Amino acid sequence: MEATSTINEKWRFCIFACFVGSITLLYCLKHDQDGINLLASGNITITMTSSNDSNQHPSSGMPFLQLSNASEHRKDVNEKEDSCNIFDGKWVYDPTSSPLYHGSQCPFLSEQVSCQRNGRPDSEYEKWSWEAKGCRIPRFNGTNMLERLRGKRVIIVGDSINGNQWESLVCLLYSTISSSRGHIDMNIHDKIFRAKEYNCSVEFYWSPFLVQLEGNEENGGRILRLDKLSDWEKKCRGADIMVFNTGHWWHNGGRLKRWDLFQYKGKVVEEMEVQSAFGMAMRTWARWIDRNVDKTSTKVFFRSFSPVHYGKQRCYNQTQPIKDESYVEKSPNPIVEVVERTIRRMRTPVRYLNITKLSQYRKDGHTTLNTIRQKKLPKAMKQRQPMSHDDCSHWCLPGVPDTWNRLLFASMVMDNSSDNS
Ligand SMILES: *[C@@H]1O[C@H](CO)[C@@H](O)[C@H](O)[C@H]1NC(C)=O
Ligand SMILES: *[C@@H]1O[C@H](CO)[C@@H](O)[C@H](O)[C@H]1NC(C)=O
Ligand SMILES: *[C@@H]1O[C@H](CO)[C@@H](O)[C@H](O)[C@H]1NC(C)=O
Ligand SMILES: *[C@@H]1O[C@H](CO)[C@@H](O)[C@H](O)[C@H]1NC(C)=O
Repeated sequence: MEATSTINEKWRFCIFACFVGSITLLYCLKHDQDGINLLASGNITITMTSSNDSNQHPSSGMPFLQLSNASEHRKDVNEKEDSCNIFDGKWVYDPTSSPLYHGSQCPFLSEQVSCQRNGRPDSEYEKWSWEAKGCRIPRFNGTNMLERLRGKRVIIVGDSINGNQWESLVCLLYSTISSSRGHIDMNIHDKIFRAKEYNCSVEFYWSPFLVQLEGNEENGGRILRLDKLSDWEKKCRGADIMVFNTGHWWHNGGRLKRWDLFQYKGKVVEEMEVQSAFGMAMRTWARWIDRNVDKTSTKVFFRSFSPVHYGKQRCYNQTQPIKDESYVEKSPNPIVEVVERTIRRMRTPVRYLNITKLSQYRKDGHTTLNTIRQKKLPKAMKQRQPMSHDDCSHWCLPGVPDTWNRLLFASMVMDNSSDNS
């Protein structure tokens, strides 16, 4: 009831659009199972493809289409940078250079992350800019990035937080090509953005463990195959830029635990420490990369663990980052250690997008209650127990993942300048 009273005009439009969208989708699904052109309007086409996959995707909300003239975001670029640790630095309040795009002008943002549209009252969290200690990080330049991506495929594989990163990257690029054509194909798990005039694509494949989860609870249990990658590996061969992550789903215990048994080399194992199992899965991933990736033409990135803010620094109601630069999480995260060790031992150079620390400062950046999942606002809005239902792991967009992509861009720029010297 409280939620109803705060509904504004935008919101109403959103609900209306989603309703019309759902009806259209249902109608189309009934008539045509493959590739349907759901919405084609102006410069944007969104194609929904039905999928037989029955796994629930936590962020499988249908896109909400809102058309407007995105303004150009032209920013300086400083390409002559010495290499330095761009992940070590501080957040600076800078409303002139952030956000890098406006949420209302990116039609590809999902309801889950559109905090402003969902009624978040403050917007300061959009206006912080990351600065490195030892150097100036190149400014994000979407045109420049698209030129670097001409004729290439970028694949982003991982959990819904990497889905967050994909949405951010698509919006960053889209805001620079709004005068030409942007196009998205999606089904329940895979999302592909194509920038036609650059002949490039930015693709997201949902695989929260990277390895395969099989079976079901009723029938012998859910088995996590530590020696077998999930479907993404077939779809991602030959991609030019790869961005991976995994982590959160390994962490989840109790009610959120998604597996019953592990399987490794034909043996089913009931009792194994999650950390050992995770190490095996990471080695399976590493072997595939070392065998299948041509390191002269492909760049592989691994995005480090995205921090959550529960406990003492809980995200609910937070509007400011943590300013204490000496702030560190108490316990080292075993997931992070396993990832770093695996990457160090690989033959293929893997670029580590080391965003854990910089994101730890941003307790203000999460979607908290300003999120819609499975078409619903959090129960808390009705139950008056906001603290127990806030989402302190996903991020609002525009927001923190834009910085991860800015650093991805910076890594590409800095990589090239060091190749040339
Ligand atoms: C962005 O990159 C493009 C292409 O490299 C370049 O022409 C343009 O000058 C850059 N914009 C700014 C503001 O630096
Ligand atoms: C990641 O960045 C943090 C903060 O700059 C740093 O302390 C840490 O050593 C880095 N980790 C790796 C593996 O580079
Ligand atoms: C577009 O890029 C793909 C690689 O992603 C390449 O195989 C194809 O030839 C390119 N097409 C054109 C028209 O350049
Ligand atoms: C959250 O912030 C609002 C507005 O500042 C305030 O009214 C409310 O009491 C806060 N809630 C909690 C639990 O701190």
